[in-house]
Amino acid sequence: MTDAPPPVLVVIDRAAAGGPPLGPGETGFRVVDPAAPTIHVTDLGVTRGDGIFEGLGVSHGSIQALEPHLARLARSAALLDLPELDLDVIRAACLESARLHEPAPLLLQKLVVTRGVEGGDGSPTAWVRTELMPDHDRERREGIRVVSLDRGYRHDVAQTSPWLLQGAKTLSYAVNKSVLREAARRGADDVLFVSSDGYALEGPSASLVARVDGRYLTPRTDQGILEGTTQADAFEVLRSLGHDVAEELLPMDVVRRADALWLLSSGRLIAPVSALDDVPVAIDAELTRQLGDALVDRRA
Ligand SMILES: Cc1ncc(COP(=O)(O)O)c(C=O)c1O
Repeated sequence: MTDAPPPVLVVIDRAAAGGPPLGPGETGFRVVDPAAPTIHVTDLGVTRGDGIFEGLGVSHGSIQALEPHLARLARSAALLDLPELDLDVIRAACLESARLHEPAPLLLQKLVVTRGVEGGDGSPTAWVRTELMPDHDRERREGIRVVSLDRGYRHDVAQTSPWLLQGAKTLSYAVNKSVLREAARRGADDVLFVSSDGYALEGPSASLVARVDGRYLTPRTDQGILEGTTQADAFEVLRSLGHDVAEELLPMDVVRRADALWLLSSGRLIAPVSALDDVPVAIDAELTRQLGDALVDRRA
């Protein structure tokens, strides 16, 4: 077994917009030792999960859907009333972190912005870390078993209760991890969140695509769910292949009639669903392969 190459960690000191202009040679970020302590124990990202993040795929050195990821980060920052972000500095930090990693076909970046330290001046803490992407070939080939779990909010929660931050990609992912343990207890690999009034939403770290009556459907993103960058790219590919795609409200009875289902995300690209709530779902291996290859090939 060969040792994995070390991750690359870039701390972004100037993640917030509006500071004094950067001087000559200043970038607003710095490369640090990935093994050295970096985060303060009173950072609100650590003590409260008060912050936001993005997971970005890097394919053959090129960051995938970089601009949609940055736009989503800015939307999450606005939902959390974080300071406006300097996306130029953050973009440059992401590119540098990817560039400095030992070349590999697929890398994964985690970009994090927190509200900063307790009692501090409000400057966000931010960093981007690049590492090898875990191998998900088996899930792509064999599919994943998914269980549907009630998220406990109505599908219109983002409009009725925006303070619940549904639809922001926050660091508070304890629930998104807890549902995976519940899935494992039920003999499954992953989860599909369902609104309390019966609409399919998203996975804890992925978007849903369902093929129903020959159309490719994903849940509408005004339901307190994330706009998936991978799903958006997959829809572009499907459109170019002449397929009909749409964002809709998807009651669970419609999802249960789908003849194929997928979960899509930057970290795993595409995983076909082989069973939903213990009911087998057919895997379209050829289309999954086609989409998977196209997603690896896309460029920012
Ligand atoms: C809750 C949730 N929904 C959807 C996604 C998929 O988004 P993307 O394809 O941009 O990675 C993610 C990604 O981590 C997620 O955490």
